[in-house]
Amino acid sequence: MPIIEARNLTKRFHRPVKAPGAAGALRHLIRPTYTDFTAVDGISLSLEPGESVAYVGPNGAGKSTTVKLLTGILVPTAGEVRVCGLVPFANRIANAKNIGVVFGQRTQLMWDIPVVEAFRLLGDIYEVPDDRYKQTMAELVEVLDLEPLLPVPARQLSLGQRMRCDLAAALIHAPPVLYLDEPTIGLDVAVKARFREFITYMHERRGLTVMLTSHDLGDIEELCPRMVMIDRGQIVYDGPFAEVTRRFGYERQLHLTLSAPVPDVPAALAPVIGGRAARITDAAEQQLSLTFDGRAITSGELIRDLATALPIADIRLVEPTAESIIRKLYQGELRFDAQPAETAP
Ligand SMILES: Nc1ncnc2c1ncn2[C@@H]1O[C@H](COP(=O)(O)OP(=O)(O)O)[C@@H](O)[C@H]1O
Ligand SMILES: [Mg+2]
Repeated sequence: MPIIEARNLTKRFHRPVKAPGAAGALRHLIRPTYTDFTAVDGISLSLEPGESVAYVGPNGAGKSTTVKLLTGILVPTAGEVRVCGLVPFANRIANAKNIGVVFGQRTQLMWDIPVVEAFRLLGDIYEVPDDRYKQTMAELVEVLDLEPLLPVPARQLSLGQRMRCDLAAALIHAPPVLYLDEPTIGLDVAVKARFREFITYMHERRGLTVMLTSHDLGDIEELCPRMVMIDRGQIVYDGPFAEVTRRFGYERQLHLTLSAPVPDVPAALAPVIGGRAARITDAAEQQLSLTFDGRAITSGELIRDLATALPIADIRLVEPTAESIIRKLYQGELRFDAQPAETAP
């Protein structure tokens, strides 16, 4: 049985449309007009207990809106959602006991009171029995090294310290599900590493189900074997993280060093790469870079053909990294609907 299940989950926001200037504002007062904006557009998704899933996509794709639908903060416009068997918005309190949430941009620690007091309050809110509270707290304090932070008011914490405390706050009631929305934004490398260790620990020891939105590929690669990518509210990819490079990594680069200057490289290459899925991206004195589509031509074929037209001294082939692929997908330079690379090695 999936622990999180969404079917055709949809959220439309009703947005006021105002013409610019005072006249527009006045017209809006007299006859307001609205437009519907679909932030989450028919998402179907299911997570098994203990799964860790990265939920990624460009800014404004609908990631946070999805998380809010799963927590019950927002009511869906259409579709169905269940978390631990409950409909979140209809059972907000019961659902809250099953989930922990960390929004990297916000904190749930009360600003002026010592962290330890905030934890106690949260324990009361979630009605955690005393002995269980002590046990969970002891573990979290140890694993997250919170002892020195307990007497400190939240507003005096550094960003990294606050994130550690926020993680503890989200898990005080030992929920089976944890949502992390951009948790490592602004954190330094050491704090990020610690965050990843902690999530791995909770995942292995407690079987925590994790849904993580992050722009940090390191977070994703280390924590989430499965990646769900969304764009404009729709799922464009759902599968292994490692598969992304295979599926979208068809754009390769070839860097050549020539053993002698060639007066007009494009002209020399025209008969060789004309009409082929390769193009010159850079040409300098005895240096040449080409980009080609690995689905249409193999590097071996291309190199062989180039060697007939140019005096080649050295060759370097660059395969795309997951990071470069995802950046290009976000920027629209690669298409999500690309065919799987069937001939990939
Ligand atoms: N309460 C809201 N009212 C109107 N539009 C919203 C609201 N919340 C989010 N949106 C819009 O929905 C889209 C998706 O937002 P969000 O889920 O925050 O994206 P992401 O987290 O992927 O960056 C954005 O265009 C955003 O402006
Ligand atoms: Mg967001």
